[in-house]
Amino acid sequence: MVWTEKHRPRSLNEIIGNEEAKLELVRWLRNWEEGKSDFPGILLVGPPGIGKTTAVHALANDFSYHVVELNASEYRTAEKIYEKLGSLGRSYTLERYFTGRERRIIVFFDEIDGIDPKEDRGGLDAVIEIAGKRDFPVVAAANVPDPQKHKKLFELFKVVEFRQLTPKHIIILLKRIVEREGLKIDYEIIKKIAERARGDARLAINMLQAASLGIPVESISQSLENLPLDELLRRLSSSISYYEIKQLIDANSSLWEDVIYTYFDIIARSPVLKFDAKIQLLDALSKIDIYLGRMNKERQFFYLRYLSHLIAWLIYNANRSGAVYDGRIPEYRLYKFVFNRDAREEFTELSEALGRSIHESRRKFTLYTLPTFCKLVKRKYSKLCEWVKKVYGW
Ligand SMILES: Nc1ncnc2c1ncn2[C@@H]1O[C@H](COP(=O)(O)OP(=O)(O)O)[C@@H](O)[C@H]1O
Ligand SMILES: [Mg+2]
Repeated sequence: MVWTEKHRPRSLNEIIGNEEAKLELVRWLRNWEEGKSDFPGILLVGPPGIGKTTAVHALANDFSYHVVELNASEYRTAEKIYEKLGSLGRSYTLERYFTGRERRIIVFFDEIDGIDPKEDRGGLDAVIEIAGKRDFPVVAAANVPDPQKHKKLFELFKVVEFRQLTPKHIIILLKRIVEREGLKIDYEIIKKIAERARGDARLAINMLQAASLGIPVESISQSLENLPLDELLRRLSSSISYYEIKQLIDANSSLWEDVIYTYFDIIARSPVLKFDAKIQLLDALSKIDIYLGRMNKERQFFYLRYLSHLIAWLIYNANRSGAVYDGRIPEYRLYKFVFNRDAREEFTELSEALGRSIHESRRKFTLYTLPTFCKLVKRKYSKLCEWVKKVYGW
């Protein structure tokens, strides 16, 4: 399990730093409950990885609220928002849910800067309207809100600023994790990480986890661009921030194919994903695959923006539903490492020929068709299928 999740604070007092901001959150919620707040909602603003999302969940936890979280990937339009909030009513009747007799809820619009008021129809207005009704507390969070674009929100909501953590804060945080994990990590390494993380707790924790696996701190790349595939996958899969995932995706478009093939594998294999979630995710994935193919073939790069959103959405939702990347090399690449040279050549030749016969690239053939085929025919004695079993574990 990734440490950013494993060690995510559950209560406000476990969140390091930003003491004033935390107090403001609590004060506002209390006032709101008594109907005394001047603000219909609260807007948390600050760079990524410093505990904004965590703080909202911790606040809810401390005061026994249930969080209904809507992320930028879901609330781009007013319809989507009302649809999501409306669907809650199916399991609880709406009034009971909203009047707080059953369970009180906080509505949380995370990464609200992902909404473009011009392009995304009515999304922001809906957030403001919902807060204005004061049926329940509304919290929004943003990394880099645009004061012009998000003007209304700034005017109406109480703005609470979250600041970057200091290296001292990060050292405290890292030491706590080292202790909980029962590890021995050199203080010098912790100090180095704290400096390099530049106030970003998420990055610091990811670096610490990498360091615990023996990866030298110097080699942990900080830039988003041109990441090696395994590093990109590690970062993508350890993030539950749509904003961060989208940034990583945008900065590494040359690896999209590899990423979605790996995600196909992660999703298809996942023992925890519910059947419905699997279907939904694989369906999205197949759309992405079609558009990606079309884009590459027709060199139609206007698909880029649309695709990057779809891919980020897919990964964000897969991660949130509990899909886990186990660090394996994508399957279609694996055969390069597993077989000895002769076997590999034979395998390549065979799968290429077979793929050709059904008009598929070798890669697609070895990734999708072959394992399915082998599963269907169950020919245990076939050499090919033996290989496949070894590689795919099927
Ligand atoms: N101030 C903090 N104290 C402790 N852990 C933190 C803090 N900020 C971030 N983290 C860790 O980093 C992860 C990402 O934080 P998150 O709340 O998602 O950041 P943000 O929403 O500001 O981008 C959390 O799961 C948590 O493990
Ligand atoms: Mg966040």
